[in-house]
Amino acid sequence: MPKPTPAFMPDRASAVPMFEQICVSFRARIRSGALETGARLPATRALAQDLGVARATVVTAYEQLVAEGYLASRRGSGYTVCAMGEVELSPGARATAPPELTERGDLLLEAGQPDMRLFPHRAWAKCVARLCRTRPEDMLSGCGRFGHPELRQAIATHVRDWRGIAARPDQVLVTSGATEALDICLHALATAEGAVGVEDPGFPPIRRFAEAQGRCTRDLALDPQGAELPTPGDGTDVVVLTPSHQYPLGGAMTAGRRQDFVRWAAQSQGWIIEDDYDSEFRYAGRPIPALAGVDGQGRTVYIGSFSKIFSNSLRMGYIVAPDGLIDRLAQAMRAKGARASAMPQAALAEFMQQGEFYRHLRRVRRIYAERHRNLIESLRAGFGDVGHVVDHQAGMQVVLHLHAAFADRPIVAAARAEGVGAEALSAYSRRAGACNGVVLGACLNDLDEQAEALIRLRRAISSTG
Ligand SMILES: Cc1ncc(COP(=O)(O)O)c(C=O)c1O
Repeated sequence: MPKPTPAFMPDRASAVPMFEQICVSFRARIRSGALETGARLPATRALAQDLGVARATVVTAYEQLVAEGYLASRRGSGYTVCAMGEVELSPGARATAPPELTERGDLLLEAGQPDMRLFPHRAWAKCVARLCRTRPEDMLSGCGRFGHPELRQAIATHVRDWRGIAARPDQVLVTSGATEALDICLHALATAEGAVGVEDPGFPPIRRFAEAQGRCTRDLALDPQGAELPTPGDGTDVVVLTPSHQYPLGGAMTAGRRQDFVRWAAQSQGWIIEDDYDSEFRYAGRPIPALAGVDGQGRTVYIGSFSKIFSNSLRMGYIVAPDGLIDRLAQAMRAKGARASAMPQAALAEFMQQGEFYRHLRRVRRIYAERHRNLIESLRAGFGDVGHVVDHQAGMQVVLHLHAAFADRPIVAAARAEGVGAEALSAYSRRAGACNGVVLGACLNDLDEQAEALIRLRRAISSTG
């Protein structure tokens, strides 16, 4: 019996490597539906013989397609075609899919959560697969204690281009997120005699970390210019600020107030910890340069995160240390046993260097801008009797400031029972009665899901009235 002709014939004269030609052929057939979900691919040995190539070439191609999510490989049953939805929803599928978030049991409008359905699975998988193929040792042992050298370089370039901070790679310390970075900075800088100034309202772990380390904290209230300066003589020697985008209220600190803090640090020999957790998400105007970029005295430690702009499950963030603090921060990292996961670092570096990261960032920024605007307009149109919103044209959350007749905590409890992950603004503050609002995530859900969430929020408010 004649052998069946292989589905394509390799072009031996082509500059495209043989394994890539095999990949291209299978990708096209899977995408077109010619190979259906669950279909078994020819055995590697058989295909290698048919094509007249080494078996290793076919194995490499199949493994690449596994990494890209086209194929699944199971011991004993070879390679089979995956459902495409397991990799990435096509635009059509996304439009018709039911709100999966509620199906997954997640809450709608959860503050600070990126929409992980937008994660660039395919580009990321390619990058990881390429690295596994070409320099696997980099993923296992190429990472130094303070981060992979290429990632430290990529971060130094990122903060220079996006945040206006001139930093060398050795000033960058990779951590497992901004939260860990905050803990490390407090460990390195807060003193037993001094006090840590924290914004109120602010990111709750900061106060917790300082107090767990036996440090006193002082509240820095917010006025229209941003956080207020520490009261002279109150012992504050470290302040933690979110100047680009105050958390959770959302405003940016004015240039004048930034200068005041830089002067305060220089005069009091204090330190500024700048938590710049989501500043890449600015939807109008130019990005506001980081405070660390304008502090010519080297008294600002900068913290960034990949949780919002890329993936919160990657658990990756970083510190950019001023020259005089590199050793102290590195020592604090050692003392705390802090160390970011090594495996994804080389891949992330390559993802950034090749521009994929920025393609993704531009894409999600566009989508989030629309969601952010929609949430604000919907709240203004439908909740004016309950409270008001301020549009800061930045960030991932929106605060509905409630009129005095409404109390945030019962509303939030009722909203959570309805599947809406709202947070009470008062939970971010230690000053009784200073804050009353509902913090809502603007990025997690598409416009249909937002509409559904607001119906539920309205029901929750009515039920508490
Ligand atoms: C103000 C602020 N800082 C830091 C973080 C933490 O970032 P990461 O996930 O990188 O630990 C968050 C997360 O929501 C935040 O809101």
